[in-house]
Amino acid sequence: MGNMIDFTGQTAIVTGAGRGIGRVIALGLARAGANVVLCSRTKEQIDAVAEEIRAAGGKALAVTTDLTDSAQLERLVDASVREFGRIDILVNNAARSFLRSLLDLREDGWDKCFSTNVRAVWLLSRLVARKMIEQKSGKIINITTVGADKAEAGMAAYGCSKAALKHLTRCMAKEWASLGINVNAVAPGFTRTEFSQPIWSNPDVEKMICQVIPKGKIAEPGDVVGAVLFLASPAADYITGNTIYVDGGTMTS
Ligand SMILES: NC(=O)c1ccc[n+]([C@@H]2O[C@H](COP(=O)([O-])OP(=O)(O)OC[C@H]3O[C@@H](n4cnc5c(N)ncnc54)[C@H](OP(=O)(O)O)[C@@H]3O)[C@@H](O)[C@H]2O)c1
Repeated sequence: MGNMIDFTGQTAIVTGAGRGIGRVIALGLARAGANVVLCSRTKEQIDAVAEEIRAAGGKALAVTTDLTDSAQLERLVDASVREFGRIDILVNNAARSFLRSLLDLREDGWDKCFSTNVRAVWLLSRLVARKMIEQKSGKIINITTVGADKAEAGMAAYGCSKAALKHLTRCMAKEWASLGINVNAVAPGFTRTEFSQPIWSNPDVEKMICQVIPKGKIAEPGDVVGAVLFLASPAADYITGNTIYVDGGTMTS
């Protein structure tokens, strides 16, 4: 089979690439040879990751982007094509969450989850798909969560938006399969990043969470990268509309 995880000459866009899981996905794609376009709202964070990639001999472009603004999505895609000529891989990783009970959640919290976690993914994927259709190939990978399937108290807006993203993954996969585009999801379980810090920063809560994870520990961001690289590679050319769970066995119960 040779080395199927080699993205030399390919371009990948990673959203939310300034920190956490998106950062290590961007570094992993660059290590595997891809030119990487990084985006998030915090310029210093994506500039630092781009610098890290360049220092290791890779090619990177940082484009400060608020994914909830459709004009900025167009600018991101235009900048990517201008710099690298094509887009082969899109990783929709960025997300918002609000830890609030349904009784306390405000309407704008619900809207922010859906505009970042669903609407922006649809709009950005559509812009990128138009380029991929011209190339007759492309891989789109959406980062969902085990919370798309399991209800957690206080996580309704986030969980509902990720359940919608899981369904959007299947819809895009179905509509675009014959056009050469594969669309899949990677669903991490609890992962140690800034996003989940309010939970793991309390050792008692972390201990409680680890008790219900068969692997007995929460994931590190690097644990998620392998599934993304696999789905982006030719090894996954006949896989579309699926979700890979990277959850230490959480979904077994
Ligand atoms: N950590 C976990 O336990 C866990 C578990 C399951 C799934 N996930 C999923 O994994 C993905 C990454 O999560 P993480 O833990 O790495 O989160 P994180 O550390 O908070 O990073 C989120 C990234 O998304 C970016 N982002 C948020 N809103 C944005 C917007 N409107 N426009 C552009 N960028 C935006 C953030 O950058 P700025 O704020 O600078 O814009 C940041 O770079 C998410 O899809 C999340 O749902 C995480």
